[in-house]
Amino acid sequence: MTTIPNMLLVMNGKGGVAKTSLVANISGIAALSGWKVLAIDLDPQGNLARDLGYLSQSDGGLGLFAAAFTKAQLTPLENVRPNLDVIPGGPETIRLADQLRSDVSRTSDPSTAYHRLANAILPLSHNYDLIVVDLPPGEAILRQAAARCAKWIVIPTKTDDGSIDGLNAVFGDFLASRDSNPELTVLGVAITLVNPSATAILAETRIELSDLLGEKIPVFESTIRFSEAMAVACRRDGVLPYEYELTAISATRRRFEALRLGKKPERVSSAAGGLASDYQRLVEEILASISSSSQTGDTVA
Ligand SMILES: Nc1ncnc2c1ncn2[C@@H]1O[C@H](COP(=O)(O)OP(=O)(O)OP(=O)(O)O)[C@@H](O)[C@H]1O
Ligand SMILES: [Mg+2]
Repeated sequence: MTTIPNMLLVMNGKGGVAKTSLVANISGIAALSGWKVLAIDLDPQGNLARDLGYLSQSDGGLGLFAAAFTKAQLTPLENVRPNLDVIPGGPETIRLADQLRSDVSRTSDPSTAYHRLANAILPLSHNYDLIVVDLPPGEAILRQAAARCAKWIVIPTKTDDGSIDGLNAVFGDFLASRDSNPELTVLGVAITLVNPSATAILAETRIELSDLLGEKIPVFESTIRFSEAMAVACRRDGVLPYEYELTAISATRRRFEALRLGKKPERVSSAAGGLASDYQRLVEEILASISSSSQTGDTVA
């Protein structure tokens, strides 16, 4: 059995619940706070490349495929931000999933096949404090392989029933991996894409999730608001919400300077602040949970 003791999975069997956005923000904020971070994109869509702005340098997942199925060494794309390296995903990840599926189905001991993923990543793992993995909603084989070698899971969900149902897929993968990876811990569920004025729906969702999860798996206190214009701009520009916020602060400073000097000030508009602080609070909770789980060695079932 190969486990990677600093690997966090962000997963939900449901699409469009902000998994990739959360991976980008956990990775960016942790790196900004001084953690040495590796983000791994296991999604054929490769959207993490857009969120972190490295699309033109992405190999589409070829490096990860080669490391899993040949003796090639896995080489990350370095410094997409200070302290943040990346293993890109994209179309080649489909090949990775197909090959894993085929190997698992052909062998009497599927653990060797599943562990190809872990064996590709393991040699790099000691270079990092935290490895954050973006998983696709489909391609269950990738979730299953990742669950067999990771330490923690965070599950983002929206407030609708379909998204909450997507949790069952994660628990299926979680339970299936427990024999080979008893250390795997679900750190918590994060409620995403929340309408800030729909407080009753949020309260109902919290109750529904607590009933479903029981006492041992928490729902994070912080939520991520629905903020379409900001989300679209961030993905388009490859900039994280807190980076937008910093840009807006600089622009505001220039505006006041221009006003002071009697020059024409530039327009400043940014709705990044709310989304940036949502992610800041949520990531703080997640990192605190990781730190305390690392110290106690606890597992949550
Ligand atoms: N806070 C937000 N408010 C509004 N829209 C958002 C927000 N965060 C992300 N989005 C948008 O929602 C869509 C899904 O986001 P994202 O790609 O992060 O989710 P996902 O769970 O990774 O999706 P997939 O299952 O396709 O991988 C994207 O179009 C994204 O721009
Ligand atoms: Mg995604």
